[in-house]
Amino acid sequence: MNQYVIHGGHPLFGEVTVSGAKNAAVAIIPAALLVDGVCRIENVPQISDVTLFFSILEELGAHVRVLNRHAVEIDCRHIRSTKPSYELACRIRASYYLVGALLGRFGQATVAMPGGCNFGVRPIDLHVKGFRAMGAEVTEGGFINASVPGGRLKGASIYMDLVSVGATMNVMMAAVLADGYTTIDNAAKEPHIVDLANFLNSMGADIKGAGTDTIKIRGVDRLTGGTYSIIPDQIEAGTYMAAVAAAGGQVHIKNIIPKHMDCISSKLLEMGVEITEQDDSLLVRRSGPLTHTNVKTLPYPGFPTDMQPQITTALTLAEGTSIVTEGVWDNRYKYVAELKRLGARIQVDGRVAVVEGVGRLEGAPVQACDLRAGAALVIAGLAAQGTTTLGSVHYIERGYEDMVGKLRGIGADIEVVDVPEPEKKEAGVS
Ligand code: UD1
Repeated sequence: MNQYVIHGGHPLFGEVTVSGAKNAAVAIIPAALLVDGVCRIENVPQISDVTLFFSILEELGAHVRVLNRHAVEIDCRHIRSTKPSYELACRIRASYYLVGALLGRFGQATVAMPGGCNFGVRPIDLHVKGFRAMGAEVTEGGFINASVPGGRLKGASIYMDLVSVGATMNVMMAAVLADGYTTIDNAAKEPHIVDLANFLNSMGADIKGAGTDTIKIRGVDRLTGGTYSIIPDQIEAGTYMAAVAAAGGQVHIKNIIPKHMDCISSKLLEMGVEITEQDDSLLVRRSGPLTHTNVKTLPYPGFPTDMQPQITTALTLAEGTSIVTEGVWDNRYKYVAELKRLGARIQVDGRVAVVEGVGRLEGAPVQACDLRAGAALVIAGLAAQGTTTLGSVHYIERGYEDMVGKLRGIGADIEVVDVPEPEKKEAGVS
């Protein structure tokens, strides 16, 4: 098991290139199951969630050919099974997309209830409601069992009771090969929703309105294949922006879509970070003190919940008191206990965190408890004086491509250390 060892307290300088979006990739790769042909997908991030999806697809009978570090060819013409193994599917939250894709193409799916990051109850009732509206019979337990009599879903009008990224994408996948028209109202509008729609359209689907409240899908008989490039990762870019805010310095963040960054940039600007927008990059600079601000996470185009731990970490170093309100998940402050080990002053009450700025953080041993919490603790370690050792970094590797290499490229003193067995036992992580 690896740990990150960070000698912090140094500003960051240089360039960092953002990879393809994790949350787009973990939808687009299973969506390849809908395609009766070969898809070439580019700008694929090299992260463990993606590798796991390749294994799941291969197990179902897909031919996955990795062309280079960031490009893959997936051929789903000869799928043998609609039941991925429990061992693989339960390891990843986004395995729920296998239900929409398999049900849409083959009229049946049996998929283990998803795992992944745990920050509160993560129901999938809206996904199931959508599938049922399209004529599927669905039972839930350890597995989600979905099938449609006659083998083909029927288009339907579906109103999402609340804005859900996963349910919007899953219903979209199920609907592309359905008989007739599907309308999704109160749809999520995240950049990866648009990316999935663009991917499916480039394979032969007919989806309109992705990125707005209402998505309209005309079912087609077949998706035939093509080439598609995944968008850059908004959250990865935001994480490096928050790292510059916390540690100081000047970093050129390349390969981004500036419009996707507005919701994050606007908060960092309020905090005193300087941001200069270029065509597909941002120059981020922090030399003076950070100012307190209030943040509330919301569905896009609001401030993303997946950036909440990172901005809260930067706010621990801002002058004055900031209020952070989590508007999406019930329990997304588990990392605060670890941040306090470094000297942060934060009081959590339900979905609200009151962050009292401190002059400095001090390095300490800490543990990641999920993907973005892990990223936040890396940021804290970069800003803190002294040495921080971060355990359970496999969470970070689920969603950040080569975070350590990229941070070293902008001058961070961070290394990966393999913890020998006896120390693991002493540290209680065996
Ligand atoms: C996705 C992201 C996750 C991000 C979240 C919100 C992936 C793999 N994960 O998760 O990183 O934090 O969007 O931007 O892309 N809900 C229901 N019933 C449902 C579905 C959701 O009540 O059937 C609720 C959830 O409990 C939550 C809210 O809706 O409170 C939003 O969840 P959702 O947008 O669905 O998150 P995910 O798609 O699971």
